[in-house]
Amino acid sequence: MNYRLLKFIKEAFKNPGTALDFGSGEGMDKACLKNLGWIVRGVDLKSGTDLNLPFEAKKVDLVYANYLLQFLDNKKQFIDNCFNNLKKGGRLFLHTFDKSDRVLKKKISTKELKKLLRDKFEDIEINIFSEFDNHPKHRHWHKILEVTAKKREL
Ligand SMILES: C[S@@+](CC[C@H](N)C(=O)[O-])C[C@H]1O[C@@H](n2cnc3c(N)ncnc32)[C@H](O)[C@@H]1O
Repeated sequence: MNYRLLKFIKEAFKNPGTALDFGSGEGMDKACLKNLGWIVRGVDLKSGTDLNLPFEAKKVDLVYANYLLQFLDNKKQFIDNCFNNLKKGGRLFLHTFDKSDRVLKKKISTKELKKLLRDKFEDIEINIFSEFDNHPKHRHWHKILEVTAKKREL
């Protein structure tokens, strides 16, 4: 599973809780979290939900979205979806491609992300790190943008 998501969860939560995996794809992260005792619902275009549109389900402790944001045209609606589906004090975790990534065309800057997050979230941390994609067909370095944040009590 996404080892940085796992590290974040171990630091942020004492016990397993409930989570939404936005853009869950094949469901690898979801399956691993379930193994650790989490109740996780995967949400994806492939199973009929477009996260460019309003989405609301039962509120959860954690919303995460790995490598989804770069596909979305309506990023503001997506951040609203994250906010609206979290319990008070719930946590957000995102991985996407940073503006400095040399391979991907669809990416986002930290400035743009901060602007989207600042009214609805606190304890916002944005980190950029390099990761090597070892897939036989496309071996190259990526610049990954990681966001962690806590739902603001409005
Ligand atoms: C690169 S995959 C990432 C899968 C998984 N999160 C991971 O980290 O391996 C991106 C996923 O986002 C989904 N997706 C793309 N656009 C979407 C949209 N508008 N609404 C919901 N899901 C979307 C795709 O169907 C795909 O499963």
